[in-house]
Amino acid sequence: MDRIRIVGGARLSGTIPISGAKNATLPLMIASLLTEGTLILENVPRLVDVVQLQRILGNHGVDIMIAGKRPGDAPNSGRTLHISAKHIVDTTAPYELVSKMRASFWVLAPLVARRGEARVSMPGGCAIGTRPVDLLIMAMEKLGAQIDIEGGYVVARAPRGLRGGEIEFPKITVGGTHTAVMAATLANGTTVIENAAREPEIGDVADCLNKMGAKISGAGTPRIVIEGVAKLDGARHSVLPDRIETGTYAMAVAMAGGDVLLQNARPELLQAALDVLGETGVAVTPTNEGIRITRNGAALAPVEVTTAPFPGFPTDLQAQLMALMTRANGVSRITETIFENRFMHVQELARFGAHIHLDGQTATVEGVKRLRGAPVMATDLRASVSLVIAALAAEGETMVNRVYHLDRGFERLEEKLSHCGATIERLSA
Ligand code: EPZ
Repeated sequence: MDRIRIVGGARLSGTIPISGAKNATLPLMIASLLTEGTLILENVPRLVDVVQLQRILGNHGVDIMIAGKRPGDAPNSGRTLHISAKHIVDTTAPYELVSKMRASFWVLAPLVARRGEARVSMPGGCAIGTRPVDLLIMAMEKLGAQIDIEGGYVVARAPRGLRGGEIEFPKITVGGTHTAVMAATLANGTTVIENAAREPEIGDVADCLNKMGAKISGAGTPRIVIEGVAKLDGARHSVLPDRIETGTYAMAVAMAGGDVLLQNARPELLQAALDVLGETGVAVTPTNEGIRITRNGAALAPVEVTTAPFPGFPTDLQAQLMALMTRANGVSRITETIFENRFMHVQELARFGAHIHLDGQTATVEGVKRLRGAPVMATDLRASVSLVIAALAAEGETMVNRVYHLDRGFERLEEKLSHCGATIERLSA
């Protein structure tokens, strides 16, 4: 398995292009199941998770063509996928595939909406917590699906089609909101979703579905209203920039020091995280081209942060912020409220000499004067990248093992960082 070698201490300067968002790309690809037409997705990042979902959709009969580069395309622009689910040949999503990537469970809603039935394996636990699917099932039931659990599979049936309904989520859920929105687009009648997730990726998927002919309003607010339509058509849509990749590189620059333009980044997608960076003393400047991050030698101030659904501070940046605060001048407190077990990076950061004390859902991070490179690894992608951030400021060499996790969510990470002056290379096994 590949490893990444980093020698810390270099300042970063230059430009890092931000890729299309992984967490919008995945539900957008799944939304292709709702139409016989061709969905053309632009700005798709090259990621292992995208390839994995291609395999899963292929199993349902979805045909995906990756377009070559056209003259005039920017060298860093993402790929264009032509996705056609004209013939759905299989409505079962097997355990072997779903267990590799949780988001593939989301095929349930479009398969039932279009074909009246689906058998999708329960995803099981994962490295960041138990992650149940009860609320996704509840949403499908509210829209008239009959649900049975058989042999580890969720079997959903709506032979006469789904019908509009009222769905009030007792807890904010991104996957539950995607599920409810996709199912409701083809339901008979109007659906109202209360306490919906407001993450920008929900809005991006709704924009694409509306281009396909859906009637969705209120995406991005806690109340989404969907008027069902009889069918959806193909469309062309460009994936929005990745706010988690943006925040990750912003913290990398904050950690290493320097001056970097995060090209194509949009500040409104991660304002809470940018505000926290501002509190640490880092300069955050929105420009016409993206967001400029500058830190010139000044010490980092400690912060108190609690993760929350959008527009709060994202759980997907919690590990990266913790890595940054290991070098702050004082004591930080970081509380995780979304996933109960998202702290694998704590033990690994300790290997660099970080001082972190975990008490329930709160980590107390006492900034240290120096970190020292070490061999490390992690079992989820945000935790893994937090180790890269620590390594950028650590003395000597760090070897990040199990790079597979980074490749799931960060496109050409070592290339983007080395272009800005970091000493980082991939060692192939
Ligand atoms: C999405 O996961 C993201 N994944 C996650 O990103 C992200 O961390 C998470 O949203 C929160 O922002 C994708 O978009 C592909 P949830 P999702 O349903 O939809 C509980 C990454 O690193 N819950 O919003 O699975 C759940 O346990 C990944 O890119 C239920 O109780 O998350 C959690 O505590 C990791 N019952 C909370 O809701 C349910 O049926 C929020 O989870 C569903 C969820």
